Amino acid sequence: MASDTFEKVVALCKRRGFVYPGSDIYGGLKGFWDYGPLGVELKNNIKRAWWQDTVYARDDVIGVDAAIIMNPKVWKASGHTEAFTDPLVECKKCHKRFRADQKEEINGHERKEHGGKGDWTEPKRFNLLTEVYLGTTEPKQKAYLRGEVTQGVFVNFQNIVSSARVKIPFGVAQIGKAFRNEITPGNFTYRSREFEQMELEFFINPDKKEAERIFKYWKKERFDWYVGLGMDKAKLRFREHGDDERAHYARAAEDIEYKAPFGWSEFEGIHDRGDWDLSRHNLTYKDPDGDEEYIPWVIETSGGVDRSAFFFLLDGYHEDRDRVVLKLHPRLAPYKVAVFPLVANKPELVKKAREIYDSLKGSFPITWDERGNIGKRYFAQDETGTPWCVTTDYQTLEDNTVTVRDRDTTKQKRVKLEELADYFRDNLS
Ligand code: GAP
Repeated sequence: MASDTFEKVVALCKRRGFVYPGSDIYGGLKGFWDYGPLGVELKNNIKRAWWQDTVYARDDVIGVDAAIIMNPKVWKASGHTEAFTDPLVECKKCHKRFRADQKEEINGHERKEHGGKGDWTEPKRFNLLTEVYLGTTEPKQKAYLRGEVTQGVFVNFQNIVSSARVKIPFGVAQIGKAFRNEITPGNFTYRSREFEQMELEFFINPDKKEAERIFKYWKKERFDWYVGLGMDKAKLRFREHGDDERAHYARAAEDIEYKAPFGWSEFEGIHDRGDWDLSRHNLTYKDPDGDEEYIPWVIETSGGVDRSAFFFLLDGYHEDRDRVVLKLHPRLAPYKVAVFPLVANKPELVKKAREIYDSLKGSFPITWDERGNIGKRYFAQDETGTPWCVTTDYQTLEDNTVTVRDRDTTKQKRVKLEELADYFRDNLS
């Protein structure tokens, strides 16, 4: 990956409407980002693909959508009010604060600001939960924006078991926003204060061998999922957490990391949470077919939607002679198809192209373009990752065929109008 790919992708994101700085007109707000018309499609496509493959394609996973704000007792029981912390150090010379474990950023600060010499406070534990205050009467009730979507699954465990009549082993999936008061947000959306997670809590028998087997199973599933959606396998790896870095709830943890321009970076964690959460919430499971009552163990997969989106963009970004092309998997591409007339000043071509556009619109996210010349339109679609461009030309008026141009190869082929929708459908899986 070229060293300036990071800057180029960030610039493309703003220029083409993937991601803007949050509250841009007021100078932004550190750690907050807004997704534009193409970004929201990319993010929704990632979430849709995850839900499709994690919930609908399986018989053992169901979903929930819990509230972002929960009774603060949840976070006390889960250990987050006490242990959900990062080590914070402050530069004694300028009072800038950093995470003590981010050595590169600390060294960079010393180099840039203080001629290579640092003078730091001792590390202090800094809690990442974001506080909110509820109600109208003083003192207002203190609560938290959730720091991980996970707890919404655990606090509903009994409701889920009794209403959905699920039997162990089973999983509960959830996608939603999480908030962390990060000490140093940065690297574009990579470390934000508001972000989305796609998580699976998989409940199993409390058995060491079973935990190891399921952990291994989900590691492979999750790694393969990213590869199946086009991520370069050579830029992916696992990294096991050492004893000193595991979250307070995890007995074992491995990250899936991507080789980003700023170094190998985590974007999904597979965690063995054991019985940590259910026991802290005093919850048990009773086998509906027997008398046995026990605390199940949990294997968790926790992916970041924003980090995945960013890494899919970085991974898909290619410069190919004079064009920029985003090689996003068709399932993830914001628009699947762009339709245009060969030239915009021939009413019969425009009319025919419009008919084709209208006939496809109900089936796929598609876009219309008649600006500039055909070459410019191809380039514009390549840059936003549209896999196919359909051009209506004079031959279309004679034989009802169109050219379909492939984004990655730039090859064109003629396809009969009646076969067009199936052509895209076949290539979208
Ligand atoms: N429930 C477990 C959990 O939350 P985590 O490793 O703290 O585990 C899981 O977070 C994922 O959430 C990360 O791999 C990352 O993709 C995403 N994530 C965490 N903090 C983030 C942040 N500050 N900005 C963006 N994404 C973040």
